Amino acid sequence: MRSVIDTLDLSVEEIDELIATALDMIQNPAAYEQACKGKKLATLFFEPSTRTRLSFEAAMYELGGHVLSMPDAASSSIAKGESVADTAKVISHLADIIVIRHPKEGAALVAARNASVPVINAGDGGHFHPTQTLADLLTIYQKKGGFRHLTVGLCGDLKYGRTVHSLISALSRYDDIHFVFIAPDELQLPDYAKRNISFSQTNALEEALPRLDILYMTRIQRERFQDKTQYERLKNSYILDADKMKLAKPDCIVMHPLPRVNEISVDVDRDPRACYFDQVYYGKYMRMALILKLLNGTTDGKAESPAQEATRACANPRCITTAEPGLPPLCKRGEDGKTRCLYCEAEVGG
Ligand code: NCD
Repeated sequence: MRSVIDTLDLSVEEIDELIATALDMIQNPAAYEQACKGKKLATLFFEPSTRTRLSFEAAMYELGGHVLSMPDAASSSIAKGESVADTAKVISHLADIIVIRHPKEGAALVAARNASVPVINAGDGGHFHPTQTLADLLTIYQKKGGFRHLTVGLCGDLKYGRTVHSLISALSRYDDIHFVFIAPDELQLPDYAKRNISFSQTNALEEALPRLDILYMTRIQRERFQDKTQYERLKNSYILDADKMKLAKPDCIVMHPLPRVNEISVDVDRDPRACYFDQVYYGKYMRMALILKLLNGTTDGKAESPAQEATRACANPRCITTAEPGLPPLCKRGEDGKTRCLYCEAEVGG
């Protein structure tokens, strides 16, 4: 069954196809009003969400389909101790497609491996968030005309920022993309997210800003810190304001997956280079295109990733294997030659 856990589950050609469909949906919404008639989408959100969940729900309604959703995680059987694997098996009998958000890294993959309908990852802990990336890609396509020859600055919480990890993985397949990682040392990118890319690192936003074609700001995510004093120390690391925007190129776009806390001051909203509310607009159409593609698809998806028994369990405390009983510790060989947990991609020792 075809599921989307990582942006790399979609080929470059499929991303092009989704963009073309989304743009056609914007032009001709009436043509898609019945496209998913009689189909049901279940949203399983075990973490807070405003735009992602409502965007999926709005997308399904615009396609003429139905939505099954729980008010919150506390009212689901997960609160009684049901596993993600069992939940996915159960919901497969009730819905045609599942959208899941969960605080544990790798949870969406567990759902996909157990569901008999397509699963879309709407965020698994600090790991991946591929449909935010689809929203980001259509925004970049519309504002920059494509995905080549770009210097992309990513600023803020790059360690736990799942939107950042998914965006890097998607853009890494295009020519002449250079990333600038702007973060405090403690919040720099995990190394699994650095595959096959050209990048530089800095702590200083002002130093990087003049070189950027895209500045992607992110929130320092309080809920991901085990050490709250570290959060307090880092929370105000970067604040983009109208004054700093004077350093940016005239055509540098500013993106943010939202919600923002204080990392972009509201005086930037009036700047024509600010695109973060456009991302929300485009996100709904990309989700419509993705839902339609997965519901119309056959079981032609990419083969399940090769896995083998790990010699040692995953040590990442945020990994789904630490929370889900009965999950075998599986691993895979990364492109960097390191052995990584199949679910959360943390390095696993031998
Ligand atoms: C992001 C997320 O949930 O990862 N929000 C979103 O989906 N648009 C970013 C965040 O929570 O900071």
